[in-house]
Amino acid sequence: MARRKKIYEGKAKILYEGPEPGTIVQYFKDDATAFNAEKKAVIEGKGVLNNRLSEFFMTGLQGVGIPTHFIRRLNMREQLCRQVEIIPLEVIVRNYAAGSMAKRLGMEEGRQLPRPIVEFSYKNDALGDPLVPEEYIAAFGWASQQDMDDIVAIALRVNDFMSGVMHGVGIKLIDFKIELGRVWDNDFMRLVVADEISPDSCRLWDIETGQKLDKDVFRQDLGNLTDAYTEVARRLGVLPSNV
Ligand code: C5P
Repeated sequence: MARRKKIYEGKAKILYEGPEPGTIVQYFKDDATAFNAEKKAVIEGKGVLNNRLSEFFMTGLQGVGIPTHFIRRLNMREQLCRQVEIIPLEVIVRNYAAGSMAKRLGMEEGRQLPRPIVEFSYKNDALGDPLVPEEYIAAFGWASQQDMDDIVAIALRVNDFMSGVMHGVGIKLIDFKIELGRVWDNDFMRLVVADEISPDSCRLWDIETGQKLDKDVFRQDLGNLTDAYTEVARRLGVLPSNV
């Protein structure tokens, strides 16, 4: 680690300068946080599983033509990614009511929504990532109208891909969060899926039993988080041999 310059340390990952200009190294920690870091724990093996799972999802997205920041996995806990200018939004897609939406609208968790709903939170830990309308995003210049159209289109394509993949292994994709970044190839700007896609940032329920296989296991004290993530990895065929 000492050979790399740390750029940023977040709740679940550390970003280091990459070996070439325009690259970064994402290191997946075992730290789990919930409720804006009011609840914290170290969950052994989580970082290794999320590194693998995020690699799996990002590679799959690239395979269906959705650009991501992912370049390649380097080792058990690290992946090489393109450096992006992160858009300060958490883009959430919901297929079934759960979490903050269920709470806000007094809905029963698990109720199927009439169609996938895309919503946006302003990425700001101090404020607890508040939900924001598109009007704010445009007015404060966080993303242009063209960016927003592209972001919604990308989010829905990610939802189609992820829902299909998860359905194939008997898991319902309740909702998920992605982050997007801008990369420039000469003067041409592209939006790419950045950060991570893992059970930390999705809600995943077993289709048959309704068992939760995501970070709600930690948030709601439902059992062993590593076991839940291992089950997701096992079904997807991406289980690292030494977890
Ligand atoms: O809490 P809420 O219901 O708004 O979360 C929606 C989805 O976004 C969940 O899958 C949750 O794990 C994810 N999320 C996230 N990071 C946040 C907030 C939500 O990954 N800061």
